[in-house]
Amino acid sequence: MLIELLTLFPEFFASPLSQSMLSRAQAQGAVEFRVLNLRDFTHDRHKVVDDRPFGGGPGMVLKIEPLVEAIRAVREQDPEVRVILLSPQGALFSQDKARELAGRKHLLLICGHYEGVDDRVHFYIDEALSMGDYILTGGEIPALAVVDAVTRLLPGVLGGEGAVEEESFQTGLLEYPHYTRPRDFEGFDVPEILLSGDHARIQRWRREESLRRTARLRPDLLEKTVLDAADREFLANLTDSAKKD
Ligand SMILES: C[S@@+](CC[C@H](N)C(=O)[O-])C[C@H]1O[C@@H](n2cnc3c(N)ncnc32)[C@H](O)[C@@H]1O
Repeated sequence: MLIELLTLFPEFFASPLSQSMLSRAQAQGAVEFRVLNLRDFTHDRHKVVDDRPFGGGPGMVLKIEPLVEAIRAVREQDPEVRVILLSPQGALFSQDKARELAGRKHLLLICGHYEGVDDRVHFYIDEALSMGDYILTGGEIPALAVVDAVTRLLPGVLGGEGAVEEESFQTGLLEYPHYTRPRDFEGFDVPEILLSGDHARIQRWRREESLRRTARLRPDLLEKTVLDAADREFLANLTDSAKKD
């Protein structure tokens, strides 16, 4: 997969893209990252990418011409590229969206800045994604979140390091709790069942902990999850106090 990032701050990405899972994913050829400098798509001597907003008001707006020139240059190379603007006004980014994007071959992630981008860019992109109901200074941090969430889903990237299938949201539920040594830390014990070696019972316990956690912390997720008869019975018997255990 090729992921291109269009930004005013190319250096921003140097460290995150060269660490941990993202670095390994590149080394093994699962993904390639290219960082494009928006200023490279200008033609004036000062490489101006922003201007004052029509109608007045504070801040600067990213100009439409360099944005569209960059999008066109990438689309010319690959008409199949998915062009995504990071925007607080976009659809909320989710694990489902990460899965969908991981099935594509090529993404262009556009990072806004200042007051945002000239709104006409919406005629040239495929979709806009938001990280949540808060305002960040630029699209770089949201773009990195998309890059990370998508890359770790690419085949072979996590290897033995993590079981993507059981992670929170992947099953529609929050994941069960994890523990490692020591067994007792300042009087807080690891649940006995995890030391039993009985894999069937551990599997069931983990499923029930997932259900319990989701019911307590994110009941909205239960409405969208496929539950079997045992799950439904467990949830039906869950008293309000048990949800808090
Ligand atoms: C300071 S913000 C602009 C906010 C804009 N004036 C508004 O109120 O909608 C600058 C850039 O940061 C990025 N950004 C900020 N918050 C974001 C969020 N929650 N999700 C995705 N991108 C965001 C976008 O690329 C945006 O163009």
